[in-house]
Amino acid sequence: MAKLLLGTAVVVLACLELGSAYRLVCYFTNWAQYRPGAGKYLPENVDPCLCTHLIYAFAGMKDNQITTTAVNDLTLYHSFNSLKNKNANLKTLLSIGGWNFGTQKFSAMASSAGTRQIFIKSVISFLRGYGFDGLDIDWEYPADKHLFTVLAQEIVAAFEAEAKSSGKPRMLLSAAVSAAPGYVNLRYEVPQLGQTLDFFNVMTYDFFGSWNSVTGENSPLYPLPNNRHYTNLYFNVNYTMKYWKDQGAPAEKLNVGFPTYGHTFHLISSSSHGVGAFTSGAGPAGPYTKQAGILAYYEICTFLKTGTSEWDALQVVPYGYKGREWVGYDNTKSFGDKAEWLKKNNFGGAMVWDLAMDDFSGTFCNQGPYPLINTLHTGLGISTACY
Ligand SMILES: *[C@@H]1O[C@H](CO)[C@@H](O)[C@H](O)[C@H]1NC(C)=O
Repeated sequence: MAKLLLGTAVVVLACLELGSAYRLVCYFTNWAQYRPGAGKYLPENVDPCLCTHLIYAFAGMKDNQITTTAVNDLTLYHSFNSLKNKNANLKTLLSIGGWNFGTQKFSAMASSAGTRQIFIKSVISFLRGYGFDGLDIDWEYPADKHLFTVLAQEIVAAFEAEAKSSGKPRMLLSAAVSAAPGYVNLRYEVPQLGQTLDFFNVMTYDFFGSWNSVTGENSPLYPLPNNRHYTNLYFNVNYTMKYWKDQGAPAEKLNVGFPTYGHTFHLISSSSHGVGAFTSGAGPAGPYTKQAGILAYYEICTFLKTGTSEWDALQVVPYGYKGREWVGYDNTKSFGDKAEWLKKNNFGGAMVWDLAMDDFSGTFCNQGPYPLINTLHTGLGISTACY
């Protein structure tokens, strides 16, 4: 718009310089503050120049209204939204829901026009009151897909009305959505959501984990040929992102999910340690993230100092093993290769789960701070105009 009005080369250049066309959407988790020592993560640890959008996870719901979930959320909201003082282009969203939140409160709230309006009013005053620029809905997963569409449409209509009356930019609406092709049409009216949401955060990870009886990659770009080692055709980034697009979501609204963690397994035999090796349950919890079956990237770096890492060229991701522990994960090479693939396929950007599991301090992996997310920042050409 400015280009057309002013028509000067200077403005055009300024726009080009400001603008990577791509989004880099990074989730902040309000429970990473409870990790010990070097794992403790607060808004102060966020690099305000790294991502284009930051999403705070998670808000909850009470009496059909949006609420906090941690005792100190209001303090953290303040520091989180103050990051915008250092990056004028940064947008912040608040995510409601999450895997542990379940569906019951969402379903009850969405089931009538009256409760939806109570929710939407609470969202607007909550987000504006604490300085967020939008809402992210992490409803895993809507049982009635039409009600999800109706809710999204009513939220955007209310955001538009609020923008007109306040004179502020309209607040954004995004959703975290399942990558599993069997879920897409079952849970979402994709074309209608495609017209309504500002963007989709497709959770293209957790394809394989300790619930499987064989090792597999968390977020492979491609399957192995001929369904080798149970890597079926569908459980990979390439297939699922194209599936979302084919169902009617505009490619430029689709953010590809990138995990900064790996899924771990306990091997049946330490001598059988490839993809598809037999397993019995989850690997042990990491010293910082303390959840069996999961390791943060920085914990994986420590693990690999005395372990072995292999590059899976067909799936375009690495895996690692040590004794009877096995991890399928992502590193800077897989992030870089997937970013190239994202650009070639004209998707709108990347979504990262999450900030606190990258080597944010740079002290574990010897690759500088945020090695994984910085790979996306560079690969997608995100603006460094920040102060
Ligand atoms: C990527 O996905 C497309 C569309 O589903 C498919 O045609 C192509 O073969 C896939 N590439 C690989 C290497 O699996």
